[in-house]
Amino acid sequence: MKPAIPTSAPKAPVDSANFRRALGTFLTGVTVVTCVDDLGQPRGFTANSFTSVSLDPPLVLVCIAKSAQSIDAFVGAHGFGISILAEHQKPVSQLFASKSPEKFKSVRWLPGSTGAPRLAEGIAWFDCHTRQRVDAGDHVVLIGEVVQFSADGGSPLGYCQGNYVSFGLVHEAVDQERARTIFGCIVNLGDRVLLCRRAGNASWTLPTTSLVEEGSSSHQVLRGMLDGMKVCAELSFLFSVYDVPKRGETHIFYRGSLTAAPAGGQDGALEARLFDFAHIPWSDFPLPQTRSMLRRYLREQAADSFGIYVDGFGHRRVATLNAAPEDWGAEHGSAD
Ligand SMILES: Cc1cc2nc3c(=O)[nH]c(=O)nc-3n(C[C@H](O)[C@H](O)[C@H](O)COP(=O)(O)O)c2cc1C
Repeated sequence: MKPAIPTSAPKAPVDSANFRRALGTFLTGVTVVTCVDDLGQPRGFTANSFTSVSLDPPLVLVCIAKSAQSIDAFVGAHGFGISILAEHQKPVSQLFASKSPEKFKSVRWLPGSTGAPRLAEGIAWFDCHTRQRVDAGDHVVLIGEVVQFSADGGSPLGYCQGNYVSFGLVHEAVDQERARTIFGCIVNLGDRVLLCRRAGNASWTLPTTSLVEEGSSSHQVLRGMLDGMKVCAELSFLFSVYDVPKRGETHIFYRGSLTAAPAGGQDGALEARLFDFAHIPWSDFPLPQTRSMLRRYLREQAADSFGIYVDGFGHRRVATLNAAPEDWGAEHGSAD
């Protein structure tokens, strides 16, 4: 059934192409708005007109074009859902901006409390009861009261001037300016850990690199370094992230294990060698943070229970995979 809302918009007093271009300069996120129609079928469309309206009561709005295929479904529904898309969900945005009759076949979703579908993998979602439908030119404004929501974190997909933009890349660029990022790894073979030293340097330390090519991941960067040392290792999980303020650096360490002992000898700029846990040259390490981190690694390796160490946000925490974070400040300081 058609909504009792006029479909003829008043004559626009402005050049609509220019108006559209000017509106497009407003950088937004991207959402998929969903509902169930009167046959119980899921319906949805991509929208960047989503806006928060009120905190008390919690209200949000979204504008739907009267020309949308799903206009009747949305105007007739008791509620709607909003899924905020993550930066990798450009294909989802394109799918829901299409006229495909099978939009929900190729995405994972769950029904929310209002029945409206909630897309998996988004960074946040809101379930809303429709409170008002406002006729507004060639669109209808749907105002909804939020009855359930969740913010799951992640980098949002952005949209500006007809293009998708990635906030994640912007963050990366900003971070690179703020602090040089050093990637490193702790890899062991049984009771021995891999250390290396640069040509002309007598001190041994954990393997690190700061070479970051545009578009390469931290794992690729580390793999390149290990290959350069002719070291066969499997990298597994993030182990530690900490700032070294006096150097203006952020250190990111992964852990892993060697699949074979290094061939030995020096290859290129880095020499690799395995050291027994009992014979680590602790005084060689230039940074107390590195010593502290490796001590923890040895302890956790023995217990086969690893955490992720995060430092540099005003406090130090160990995030374990199966327990609440604990403080590691005292231990960190005592490692000196
Ligand atoms: C990034 C982006 C944002 C959009 N925002 C809106 C919007 O806020 N409201 C709207 O009605 N259509 C918007 N659209 C267009 C709809 O997604 C598109 O017309 C879709 O086909 C509607 O689905 P339907 O016709 O199957 O109902 C947007 C499209 C894109 C790509």
